[in-house]
Amino acid sequence: MFSPITPLSFALLALIPSAIARPATSRRAANQRKCKAPVEPSCTKFATGVLSADVNGTLSPFTLVDPLGSISFKENETRPLEVEYQTCKHFTNSESSDSDIPGRLYVPEFRSCIKVLNQPDETEPYFTLLSEVCDSSFGERFVLRPEENNTIFWTGSTNSTFEQGGCGELGYRVEEDGTPVLTENGVALGCEGKPFNLVLVNTTE
Ligand SMILES: *[C@@H]1O[C@H](CO)[C@@H](O)[C@H](O)[C@H]1NC(C)=O
Ligand SMILES: *[C@@H]1O[C@H](CO)[C@@H](O)[C@H](O)[C@H]1NC(C)=O
Ligand SMILES: *[C@@H]1O[C@H](CO)[C@@H](O)[C@H](O)[C@H]1NC(C)=O
Ligand SMILES: *[C@@H]1O[C@H](CO)[C@@H](O)[C@H](O)[C@H]1NC(C)=O
Repeated sequence: MFSPITPLSFALLALIPSAIARPATSRRAANQRKCKAPVEPSCTKFATGVLSADVNGTLSPFTLVDPLGSISFKENETRPLEVEYQTCKHFTNSESSDSDIPGRLYVPEFRSCIKVLNQPDETEPYFTLLSEVCDSSFGERFVLRPEENNTIFWTGSTNSTFEQGGCGELGYRVEEDGTPVLTENGVALGCEGKPFNLVLVNTTE
């Protein structure tokens, strides 16, 4: 562990299951680190963009109710919600087609993931909150459709016997004028909801 680590040996280390490669103390440290720095090695950036609503054909950014809060929306927002769409090796979704990309929504500014807090509820509405614990649980599982204008649905728990809310593809509820319905917990997700749009931004890092 303490010998100089060359890029090659680092790459080899990465292939060894961590339980074998690390003593218990460093495993504990790694778990603590996971809470604060939630980018699991098995999850990687797929795209960066602004989470947006399609209001009458115009893409307008979502924001957060307050830092670390729920997803919210208002006209002419000056604090667009920038997210990293991350794919995770262990995300497989038997329901999805080849063009669907299962993944999670990571918010780099707050080192947190967008999570549906009341995911265990059997019926909608569902509400979001930023979570520092990016554990890739069902509350954090979304699907991105690059071939359909980069639309994103929350997929909830799809274990082939049970779909969240009875559908398995949930978007945000909309008012008659096309704007997102807002509750005291921010946007509300449901079965007849509209998908989020990811408006890609170029990152050079
Ligand atoms: C948003 O901006 C548009 C164009 O500048 C303006 O017409 C509209 O009144 C603004 N809406 C709000 C709620 O500020
Ligand atoms: C993508 O968005 C454009 C413009 O809003 C729309 O005309 C088109 O039908 C959309 N395509 C899909 C696959 O949803
Ligand atoms: C699927 O999820 C539902 C709801 O959480 C649960 O009751 C059921 O046992 C699960 N089925 C499998 C095969 O895991
Ligand atoms: C969207 O279009 C509908 C129908 O034309 C209109 O009533 C509504 O005000 C529009 N919404 C916004 C936010 O402009």
